[in-house]
Amino acid sequence: MKDYSFEQYRELFEKHLLDFLPDIDHKSITLYESMKYSVSAGGKRIRPVLLLAACDFCGGDIEEALPYACAIEYIHTYSLIHDDLPCMDNDDLRRGIPTNHKVYGEAVATLAGDGLQAAAFEAMNRDMLLYLDDAEALKRRVCASYEIIKGSGCRGIVAGQIADMEAADKNCSREMLDYIHITKTAALIVAAVRAGAQLGGADSDTLEDLTVYAENLGLAFQICDDILDIVGSEEELGKKTGADAENKKATYPALFGLEESKARLEELTDMAIDALKDYYDNAELFVHLAKVLETRGN
Ligand code: IPE
Ligand code: IPE
Ligand code: MG
Ligand code: MG
Ligand code: MG
Repeated sequence: MKDYSFEQYRELFEKHLLDFLPDIDHKSITLYESMKYSVSAGGKRIRPVLLLAACDFCGGDIEEALPYACAIEYIHTYSLIHDDLPCMDNDDLRRGIPTNHKVYGEAVATLAGDGLQAAAFEAMNRDMLLYLDDAEALKRRVCASYEIIKGSGCRGIVAGQIADMEAADKNCSREMLDYIHITKTAALIVAAVRAGAQLGGADSDTLEDLTVYAENLGLAFQICDDILDIVGSEEELGKKTGADAENKKATYPALFGLEESKARLEELTDMAIDALKDYYDNAELFVHLAKVLETRGN
């Protein structure tokens, strides 16, 4: 077990960030450049770090988990590129620099997102092909890729994004709001943790505890994002604030106010941490990350 800090996992990940972008024919160089533009722009990298940390925590080899860590960040980045498009949230700033469509235009940005999603599948499938003769190793990889694809698709991000759009400027119930947040955001965070755990060969109890952690962390993460859209600063977040109110989005603060949102964020963070209490200081990174994410922007 490497038992790295968040920063150490992140450094390892950053070193390999572009390794799994497919070689693209020079004739399609704009596609490659636009994909690289958004992927290389930084970001907190919490999904790949969670994936690597969960793999390590469960006894796996984190170097072997790198294609999956990159895949999940490619998918996350694609979802941000599309989320920023004028037909969705219409944002100009992301990760501290102009959004993809502001630089390359809407059509290229759409295709950069498509390309990144396909690159994620390709990275995982190419890795699986190396293990066709090792049923156990292959099974762990198939399970991990299934988690990632499920979290990004029609029961994850895509479902959440359409519900988010349709709920704008409507009276939305708490149940619907939780559905939106769980699908558009928590699903990929759960996928990161579960994919890492699967790659590490987790037993079913550990997988379940990590899942409960990630579900609570994921919902807390989006509530915090909603709060920061009101109280955060553009410089720190690298994206425009006040956008949710402008787009009349259904968010926690819009429905319940800032104080209740903060209380819910704290409650979910505590539940996330509580899910791993039996692991004591072995789960330090996960506990620390939940606390850091809860207080970011403060
Ligand atoms: C932004 O995700 C979109 C949400 C799900 C709230 P992050 O806050 O993880 O964005 P980056 O990767 O750090 O830019
Ligand atoms: C987006 O939620 C979640 C995604 C799936 C991309 P937001 O629309 O609140 O994310 P930001 O605030 O633009 O990063
Ligand atoms: Mg959005
Ligand atoms: Mg947005
Ligand atoms: Mg937001």
